[in-house]
Amino acid sequence: MVRINSRLAAVALLLTTTTAVSTQVASGFAASDGSIKFALNIPQNDASEDLYFSMQGSSSLSWMAIGMGNNRMDNTLMFMVYADSTGQNVTVSPRLSYGHTEPSYTNNVTITVQPGSGIANGNMTVHAICTRCRSWKGGSIDPTSTAQKFIFATGPDGSINSNSGSANIKRHASYGAFTMDLTKAVGAAGIPIIAMSDSAGTVQTQDKTDHDFSAPLHAVAMVGAFVILMPAGVLILRVFKSPRLHGWNQTVSAIVAVLGAMLGIYAGTMYNRSRNWNSAHQLFGTIIILAMIGQFVLGFMHHRIYKRTQAPTKLAPYHIWLGRVVIPAGIANGFLGFPLALNSKYNWALLALTLLMVIGFVPLWFWRYKRDANKMPLGMASDSDGYQSQPWNSGPSSSDINLGVYDGQQNYPPQPMNYPPPNYHYQNPQEGRQFV
Ligand SMILES: *[C@@H]1O[C@H](CO)[C@@H](O)[C@H](O)[C@H]1NC(C)=O
Ligand SMILES: *[C@@H]1O[C@H](CO)[C@@H](O)[C@H](O)[C@H]1NC(C)=O
Ligand SMILES: *[C@@H]1O[C@H](CO)[C@@H](O)[C@H](O)[C@H]1NC(C)=O
Repeated sequence: MVRINSRLAAVALLLTTTTAVSTQVASGFAASDGSIKFALNIPQNDASEDLYFSMQGSSSLSWMAIGMGNNRMDNTLMFMVYADSTGQNVTVSPRLSYGHTEPSYTNNVTITVQPGSGIANGNMTVHAICTRCRSWKGGSIDPTSTAQKFIFATGPDGSINSNSGSANIKRHASYGAFTMDLTKAVGAAGIPIIAMSDSAGTVQTQDKTDHDFSAPLHAVAMVGAFVILMPAGVLILRVFKSPRLHGWNQTVSAIVAVLGAMLGIYAGTMYNRSRNWNSAHQLFGTIIILAMIGQFVLGFMHHRIYKRTQAPTKLAPYHIWLGRVVIPAGIANGFLGFPLALNSKYNWALLALTLLMVIGFVPLWFWRYKRDANKMPLGMASDSDGYQSQPWNSGPSSSDINLGVYDGQQNYPPQPMNYPPPNYHYQNPQEGRQFV
């Protein structure tokens, strides 16, 4: 242990001597997780309000940022860096943050990127000058402070490839805070070299990996509800003919979807692109969730009335048709959701899962269809649950409305049970099956 420590000390010494090669006056910070390195020079000719800085992180990062003026996001001025449209150089976006949401671009300060910046050799490197950068609405930095507060953050892997200062970003993957002795940064103006380690007076005060799972959980809940649970609920009714299980299953589906929607609402508050609730995914999602709740109420009411009257209700067709709209609409809205989360590639996974469900369900439907067709007269019995009945298609010709699945049943007007149709034959009486 002692030997390891002395070796570390030797390495640290080596690093310090390497850093000391710089002639530029600067304060440096190197995050303990290696995610980001930052160096700051404050020109002593104070009238300019300029700052010179350098920043480096892995080229795999979608973005990296240093914020000045606080140890959390509120009231900080940030230098946010991401790949430009060529992918070879960087866009440095000054952003202001007033709360724990995505910081917003400001054109109140000007950042000019200097030679030596770019994305190469696995590094994303910035050398830049920021003018009018020492104070901003809500905050400032003080060149006489020996413990000026800063924050740092890096996004998940990816490349934003945008020249726009207000490009959409994903939430940080890791973040933290540090303080720097700015008195050591004041000197002749000049771009500082990348800090390989903390300079004297720099203290990292926080280091965290992100633990906000609201957006991924929202996706899992919604896909689970609309792509798996709800179609399974339809299958339970149509193929396995169990209104009771159907009711339970769709209750669970609705609860999962409502909880998922609440997670989505929360996730939406964090990003500039969704904060105002005006994206298509959010607008359609709101309508779909309301329709889904309506669908749940319809199904519940239908069941209540049916239990009392033992006859098909007027609500059944609305329930059936609303279901046919709500489920596909919910799935379609997922295809708008992933791009909003800057995760368009998951649309392929959603497409695959949707196709898989269709491929899995169709044989079951077909199996049921053939089974029902074979015992056509008895099939009428399952009308007695009241869910299959649609007042307008009691005639044989309109069976296609029901996707052709219920030909056997729909040829008979829904009627109270135990009313044998004209050609009813008794050779296969399975009385028990009539009561679901
Ligand atoms: C990146 O842009 C800056 C500013 O225009 C320039 O000085 C620098 O040479 C560029 N780097 C590369 C790798 O093109
Ligand atoms: C990145 O830059 C540093 C110097 O700042 C250098 O030591 C390193 O080799 C570069 N490449 C990678 C992949 O880190
Ligand atoms: C713009 O910059 C000036 C000078 O630094 C500052 O006084 C003002 O508050 C800034 N405005 C905003 C909106 O940040």
